Amino acid sequence: MIFTPFKINGKEFKNRLIMSALNTGFVIDNEFSDKVSEFYKKRAKGGAAAITTICAVNKEGSFNNMPFNGEGFDVFCNKMSNMLKEYECKHIVQLFHYGSGSTFQGEKREEFIPKNMSVEDIKHIVESFKKAAEISVENGADALEIEAGKGFLLSEFISPITNDRDDQYGDSFDNRVNIVFNVMKSVREAVGAEIPVILSVSGAQMTEGGYTVSDMVKLCEKAEKEGLINAVKVSGGWYNSKVPCETYFVPFETIGAISDSIKRNLNIPVITEGRLNSVTMGEKMIENTMTDFLAIGKSFLADYDIAIKILEKKTYNVCQGCNKCIESIMRGEELYCSYNPEAGFEYIENTHRRIATAKKIVVVGGGPAGMMAAKKSAERGYKTILITNESRLGGQLNMAGLPPKKDDIFKFIENLENDLKALDVNIVYDTFADFEKIKSYEPYFVVLAMGSVPVVPDVFKDKKYILAKDVFFGSNKVIENIKRGKTVIIGGGSLGLELAEFINDKCCICDENIDVLSKYTDIPLSDMYKKPDITIIEKLPILGFELNSTRETVINGLLNNDVKMFTDTEVIEVKENSIVLSNDKEIEYDNIIIATGSEPVSSTIAEELMNERISYSIIGDSDYVRDAEKALKDGFELFLRMFIA
Ligand SMILES: Cc1cc2nc3c(=O)[nH]c(=O)nc-3n(C[C@H](O)[C@H](O)[C@H](O)COP(=O)(O)O)c2cc1C
Ligand code: SF4
Repeated sequence: MIFTPFKINGKEFKNRLIMSALNTGFVIDNEFSDKVSEFYKKRAKGGAAAITTICAVNKEGSFNNMPFNGEGFDVFCNKMSNMLKEYECKHIVQLFHYGSGSTFQGEKREEFIPKNMSVEDIKHIVESFKKAAEISVENGADALEIEAGKGFLLSEFISPITNDRDDQYGDSFDNRVNIVFNVMKSVREAVGAEIPVILSVSGAQMTEGGYTVSDMVKLCEKAEKEGLINAVKVSGGWYNSKVPCETYFVPFETIGAISDSIKRNLNIPVITEGRLNSVTMGEKMIENTMTDFLAIGKSFLADYDIAIKILEKKTYNVCQGCNKCIESIMRGEELYCSYNPEAGFEYIENTHRRIATAKKIVVVGGGPAGMMAAKKSAERGYKTILITNESRLGGQLNMAGLPPKKDDIFKFIENLENDLKALDVNIVYDTFADFEKIKSYEPYFVVLAMGSVPVVPDVFKDKKYILAKDVFFGSNKVIENIKRGKTVIIGGGSLGLELAEFINDKCCICDENIDVLSKYTDIPLSDMYKKPDITIIEKLPILGFELNSTRETVINGLLNNDVKMFTDTEVIEVKENSIVLSNDKEIEYDNIIIATGSEPVSSTIAEELMNERISYSIIGDSDYVRDAEKALKDGFELFLRMFIA
């Protein structure tokens, strides 16, 4: 059903996949640059029925280099509409105002107390929405979307948390949505009845004391009845909700259920947006009349061909919900995708045409850096050989996919492996690549991506410990020991925290099973809820510092499972059954797990290649240790810079 056309206000969309509004951070002064054009062209070519681009209704309402209604916007919008038309892709312009966050971004935003707008300010903003609507339609927009959710300006009025006014725009719900109705009326007045107008709402604020699904039903029902809108787009909570809506913690099903509750009360089409990483689920929702369209943001970043690949039933690159793209935008940087380093660089890719050459490139290492380098090498046309000493590809990603809810990482590995096979990369498994082996392929260039090995702090040398990877990949016996005894994890970075999540997941019986077991067996409830005894020791003042926006949720999950955590703490002495900490505490243990970090694999290959005058590059953890996403970027960037005659 995803590929059956559907209409909004009489305008036909060729399928049900709409690309959501994404601020890219690279539209500078409304310029329709090659970078912008290629970014959107790829996604239009990739099969989207419509692409949503942004128009901040004035400069103040924009943030981080987004298009805004000011000098040059008419040309920008016109060029975008015309380009999208070439691919039968409709152009939806989102009318946007960032609200209080436009002045203060990042960490400062938490401390910032916005001032109340005057009634004159509000009238001015409503007028700005109207003008932005007019100019967008004059310049080819097929439809308009009024952004009234996610924590941006209009939703800040709707929320009782952020709106403390006591005039006609505050206090009661009817007053708080006044500005939204004023905007919808002025937009409709400006563009007439023919143009589809979509109202974009967060189905619920998903924050205690915030607005609810019933509130949004009321708003949408009234707007529909008054003929102000032709469709509603429903997403999850705000971008700063306590529930991190954009991440892997909130599945599409959750947002689907919210949007279904709203759709039941409406007669106009509904578009569901947020975390669509399973097409099967999206398809089912359309079939079951729970939604009419699927709006996809991040998955279009992770794979610009996603729509075509779904149509052709091919594997596609799944968005991992890691939130790194949003974090980069919020920091005021350009958008990037951890799992698709090509996003934003499509324009450069176009200038790196495939060349006809018999030159061979040998990539040593089948982890993220090696796989990405091999893909890019083969795409350029080099005969590419990838040698790995393991029986499967993926390297450290195979470990990253094991903690709860992170199994989409295995789809990423599978997809990348399929790409390599389709590009005829010769993958040599289970083979140790020493210098002689590499030389036997007569390489023109060698990429060393051999990864890293765990580092064990000196105080644990000659003591009994387990490495984190041996718990992840270990036998049931390892987990059994952990279940029974007291476990101390040394290292509270992302590895240590995710290891604790993994252990908890292995040790606890899920709630549905508890229902059945307590009804039909005599297993005591205390046994079913028996949580493993875990303590995490971190020497830095912060836990999981690399996790950023998912950090709080991970830590709260561990606290709920009674995991004890110490920061700013080092291990001073390891005794037979206890460890002494720098905070003067002594804690007992049965198992010690080392999750402290890694160092590059040591190897003489580089030196040997140099002696034989064979060119090489060292990338990923082999160069210096970093996370998997940076390793992928390394593999990608190497071939951005590579010109071999
Ligand atoms: C990098 C990035 C930039 C975004 N910028 C905007 C924006 O300017 N306006 C907006 O309404 N939503 C914005 N969003 C939110 C998306 O439109 C979408 O609602 C959200 O990503 C959830 O959908 P998804 O999981 O399919 O990406 C942005 C999201 C990302 C990842
Ligand atoms: S950076 Fe992460 S969340 Fe963003 S699109 Fe890429 S995989 Fe998805």
